[in-house]
Amino acid sequence: MTNFKDKVIYQIYTKSFRDSNGDGLGDIQGVIEKLDYLKELGVDYIWMTPFFQSPLNDNGYDISDYRTIDPVFGTMEDVEELIAQAERRGMSLMFDMVFNHTSTEHEWFQRALAGEKKYQDYYIFRDGTPDAPPTNWESKFGGNAWAYVPELGKWYLHLYDRTQADLNWDNPEVREELKDVLRFWKAKGVKGFRFDVINVISKPTIFQDDNQGDGRRFYTDGPRVHEYLKELVADAGIGGMVTVGEMSSTSLDNCIRYTNPAEKELSMTFSFHHLKVDYKNGNKWELQPPDLAKLKELLTLWQIEMQKANGWNAVFWCNHDQPRVVSRFGDDQRYWKESAKMLATCIHLLRGTPYIFQGEELGMTNAGYTSIDQYRDVESLNYYRIMLQSGKTETEALEILRQRSRDNGRTPMQWDSSVNAGFTKGIPWIMPPENFRHINIQAERSDPDSILHYYKKLIQLRKQEPVISEGQIAFLYQDVPGVFAYRRFHQGQDLFVVNNLTGYDIALNNMPWTGFQKILGNYTDDSTILRPYESAVYGPCK
Ligand code: GLC
Repeated sequence: MTNFKDKVIYQIYTKSFRDSNGDGLGDIQGVIEKLDYLKELGVDYIWMTPFFQSPLNDNGYDISDYRTIDPVFGTMEDVEELIAQAERRGMSLMFDMVFNHTSTEHEWFQRALAGEKKYQDYYIFRDGTPDAPPTNWESKFGGNAWAYVPELGKWYLHLYDRTQADLNWDNPEVREELKDVLRFWKAKGVKGFRFDVINVISKPTIFQDDNQGDGRRFYTDGPRVHEYLKELVADAGIGGMVTVGEMSSTSLDNCIRYTNPAEKELSMTFSFHHLKVDYKNGNKWELQPPDLAKLKELLTLWQIEMQKANGWNAVFWCNHDQPRVVSRFGDDQRYWKESAKMLATCIHLLRGTPYIFQGEELGMTNAGYTSIDQYRDVESLNYYRIMLQSGKTETEALEILRQRSRDNGRTPMQWDSSVNAGFTKGIPWIMPPENFRHINIQAERSDPDSILHYYKKLIQLRKQEPVISEGQIAFLYQDVPGVFAYRRFHQGQDLFVVNNLTGYDIALNNMPWTGFQKILGNYTDDSTILRPYESAVYGPCK
């Protein structure tokens, strides 16, 4: 089994990373151009979001052919070159497998529409009349989760957009098709996979209305999900690879099963509970300041319980579906640099494999859009409409999007201070925030105190100190509000990590790291008071 504990994984949102041909969209050649930068940062694996053939209604998470590269991103030769060039630099590729659904433009779905029974069984079709969807389940992107096809007199299930039809995993032929996709990419030299919303693949045999919620309790970590994952991993021969499952609304018990090596399912899981602490009553579209006590409680709980049962967390703040963490849990104005560094420290030294989402290492912020025309995301556009229909004013709905839209994480990578942040010579498909003039790689490369340099240090530290990759974890100062502190220990070595999650000073007593050396921090001088967003690491030797 590949060791994934001392590795750092970098996520590239292909469409927004680097445009090599001036069409305004990021592409594979753009990634190849920037491999030296990733090498310099020190990452081991590069997770690329989907660049397969797709109508791009959900930016590639709606795949119409798993083995073809969408021409807007490049060619198969480009992908082969990318894999080879990365390997030459000691880095490996992880591809994004969207196996819960396909695009409705996929040949399988088209043949289902044309009446072929075999392919209708690839999806979840139910007979019915146009006025009565089979259940009241809601799509994660808004509206009912079923779409009607008049020509067939049938509904099909789509937990996401109506152009993303859910696959029928109970059909063994579907499972064989998907294993074959994995074998195909493995043969090309891909060394790992990220599985999109993989915990919603197993639906119940009986479909019924949900009178308590949106239907998710019937299919989340569904009845046969563990069985299907084991089969997929074993038959596709990917047990030795780095695999991460994206788990929607999952539970701790299930994540233990997904990741305990004895189960032979996945290396690690992404769970999202800690990223809902600013949802009012669990609703993403209602604003509330982050509940820091809850944040601390959830991170602690997942760390401790996964450790007890030999599970493994993917640790992360950001991805292409989340707002930027410095704008969300930090202060992107007054304490921009301090809070970005503190948030990085918080997660990179936890027990788990850290992920860096492109631009996080620069302290990239939310987009700051002020008009609906600037947004591109299907979810944001759907919910904008839904919010207006439900009585919110335009100003209110725009303020919610400003904080919650997935487009906050999808703005172009900020390479330099030239026009469009050096992302494209054409017209970018989505605009960068104004602040790219000072938040960019060129500026941060030449500043030894930059967020970028701080990330490099965190990555190096993981390589140097087995206590970070292998050590146990215990939490400190749990009853001191705003302080997130922990001790890592391994074979007689200790490492202490202390973070002030708040913008005010906090005094601590009886610090257990007294006498240890401070090896990293975001304030240069030493003080017994934790300053706003202060972060410090002590150890590993006395
Ligand atoms: C995952 C992806 C997201 C996508 C959704 C449907 O949550 O990260 O971008 O929209 O799945 O595929």
